[in-house]
Parts: sequence; C-alpha cells; structure tokens
Amino acid sequence: MAGKCYLLPKSQKSKRMNVLKNKERRPGEKARSDAGNRSSRGYAAAKPAAVKQVPRLQERAAKPAPAAAPAETRPLLPRSGERPPERVPIILESSGAGDFHLVDSGNGLKLEQYGPYRIVRPEAQALWQPSLAGHVWEKADALFTGDTDEDGMGRWRFTREALGETWPLSLLGTDFLGRFTSFRHVGVFPEQIVHWEWMKNRIEEAKRPVKVLNLFGYTGVASLVAAAAGAEVTHVDASKKAIGWARENQSLARLDKAPIRWICEDAMKFILREERRGNRYDIILTDPPKFGRGPNGEVWQLFDHLPLMLDICRELLSSKAIGLVLTAYSIRASFYSIHELMRETMRGAGGVVESGELVIREAGLDGKTPGRALSTSLFSRWVPA
Ligand SMILES: C[S@@+](CC[C@H](N)C(=O)[O-])C[C@H]1O[C@@H](n2cnc3c(N)ncnc32)[C@H](O)[C@@H]1O
Repeated sequence: MAGKCYLLPKSQKSKRMNVLKNKERRPGEKARSDAGNRSSRGYAAAKPAAVKQVPRLQERAAKPAPAAAPAETRPLLPRSGERPPERVPIILESSGAGDFHLVDSGNGLKLEQYGPYRIVRPEAQALWQPSLAGHVWEKADALFTGDTDEDGMGRWRFTREALGETWPLSLLGTDFLGRFTSFRHVGVFPEQIVHWEWMKNRIEEAKRPVKVLNLFGYTGVASLVAAAAGAEVTHVDASKKAIGWARENQSLARLDKAPIRWICEDAMKFILREERRGNRYDIILTDPPKFGRGPNGEVWQLFDHLPLMLDICRELLSSKAIGLVLTAYSIRASFYSIHELMRETMRGAGGVVESGELVIREAGLDGKTPGRALSTSLFSRWVPA
C-alpha cells in the first residue's frame, strides 16, 4: 500500500514520536501546508519599497507522487549493553565561515550574507525585533516572499536587478554554487558548517583512508568537504536534480577526480542493500527531511522511519568508526527525542552520545559583531571514546 514501505511494527514505534509536529519544510519534502511559517507579519515588515518581480525560477513544482514501491524493511535488531554516556545539552554554534554570515534577524525574518548577495528569508524562530535599521534590510539584493500559488513554494523578489539563478560561493575552502530555489533555500544549509568542520578535522587526523556516507546529501557540499579532506565518499539523494547540482558543484570545487559515488536512490533502500552487501563506513552523516519521497515514490516519514534508519546506520559503521551524525529539522521536538533514540541504538557500543542544537550567531554587517543566536535544528551524534 502506498506510504507503507519501511513502516515498523506498531509495537516498535515510539508513541512519543507521533505527537511531534512539523516546523518547516526542506528540499525533497512533500508540499504541505506550512502557512504558519510564512506569516505575512514577517514579510510585510521587511518588504523593500520598490521591488521588481521576476518570473518563478525553473524549479519543478512537486508532481503527484507515484505509488510507493513495495515494502522493504527489517525488524529492529535487539540491542544490549549500556547506553553510551551522554553529553547534553551541546549547542554547536557557528558565527559564519567563508562567504556566509548571518547579518541580522527579527520580525520572523533573517538577513544573510552569501558572498556578494545579501538575502532576506523567512525565519519563524526570529521572534524579536531586528537590530539593524529598516533601510539596511530594504537594500538586500533578494527577498523570498510567501506569495505563492502552489503550496510550499514562493518567489524571489530582487530589489535592483533580476539576479541569475546561481552564483559562486565558498565554505571551508570548498567552492560551490549558491542557488535561488523556489522552496526558499539557497543550495546550502550553512548551519551545518559545524558538522562539516568536525568531519574535516577527523578525516585529516585519521591518517588512513576514511569512508564517508552522506544520506539525503542534497547539493553535495558536505560530500565535497569530505572529499577535499581526503575521504572516499558515497552521496545518496532521491532527487535527480539535486544530484545534478551536486555534480556541478564537484566541478566547481575542482574535485572531478575525487572518489565520490553519486547515488540517486531512496536512502532507506540504499542502506538496507549496503547492510546486506556488508559495506561499511567510518563516518555517516544523515540529514533527513520530515517527509520525502524516493525516486520511485518510496515514502520517507521521519517519525516512522528514523528508528530503523539509525539501526541500519549502526550496522553500517566500520570497526574503526569515527562518528554517526544525525540532524533533524522540520520537527517540533526536544533534542532529547533523537538523543535517547541514538543512545538506545548505540547500546553496548561505548563512546559517547552528544546532542543539542545547531545555532547560528548573528555577526552584523561587518561579519564580526556577535549578536543573537538563531536556532536552526536539533542534532545527535555518536562518537567513539
Ligand atoms: C534536508 S535536505 C539535506 C540537506 C543537506 N544535508 C545539506 O546540508 O546540504 C533533504 C534532501 O533529502 C532528499 N530526500 C528526500 N526524500 C528522500 C529519500 N526518500 N531518499 C533519499 N533522499 C531523499 C531531498 O532530495 C533533499 O535533497
């Protein structure tokens, strides 16, 4: 039946998980009503005086999804031993890096610098008033508005001239393209920089070949950072378009010869097969949306499938594993939800589970003036002792 693949037996599902609700939709997630996140309050506040409206970018609207593929699953494995010790709460904070910093936030919006462009996007967490004057916000190069005739999509308005769909950016020494997408995203999630820095350092310190698996890898920035640090990378994403963008980024990053496998597949299907094949990885990054679909209509539901996904990821960790990193957006939940799931999954593995939030610190117009912390997502990661 459509939507039933990978469902766990009812008894194994945490009832607690079912009460968690969505907060914001991300790429690959099915269009759903998130009107609450696009309140006109925020938009009106920062709307520049004179804006030119440009045609919607060529990003495809979500098509009605095909029926889900036949169920493919396995029961959760029994776990014994102690739960790994915990380090909580950990707030991983970024004040920007490379071409990115958060300039200001407030009124349900954020003002960000991405290389040459200053951009205004909705930000439901920014409940306070902006620090900078209205005229600074009004001079932003691009503004994402909630004017939408299709659920979940919107438009970019450009203050001076219509900008191209992409522009060059660099983070942690890796070049890639920023991109005005019709789902308010810009081709990168800069709050992830803290995970990428951590990963880069671990790969460089390892002084041995390191295998990285990047699930739900989107435009591939994490995969490229890992490859640039010397890892052999397997990147999985359900979107052919995102894989195309990731390959474009690979060329821009001058990593054409780097050992990266780009795999367009349903993440669960892929990891189940990797488990059967006995393939193992030293670092696994998984950044699942709340809801998504594989290329053949396979359904990904975070609250239903996350326990099994982590269970399989544990089996995929090599004997010299360096870490398993989970980020969760789009949910209204405490980090403890994913923290305790990670500890249960890693029973008997030793090491430590550290969990908390990813936040970005405002850095002002000059990129150097610390301001308020903007929460972006929850994370949980297991690392060996
Ligand atoms: C939250 S983004 C990942 C962002 C990325 N990790 C980064 O930091 O740039 C979600 C991605 O999941 C992909 N996706 C959605 N459902 C999927 C599925 N069932 N299997 C594999 N990928 C999926 C989407 O195509 C999208 O690129």
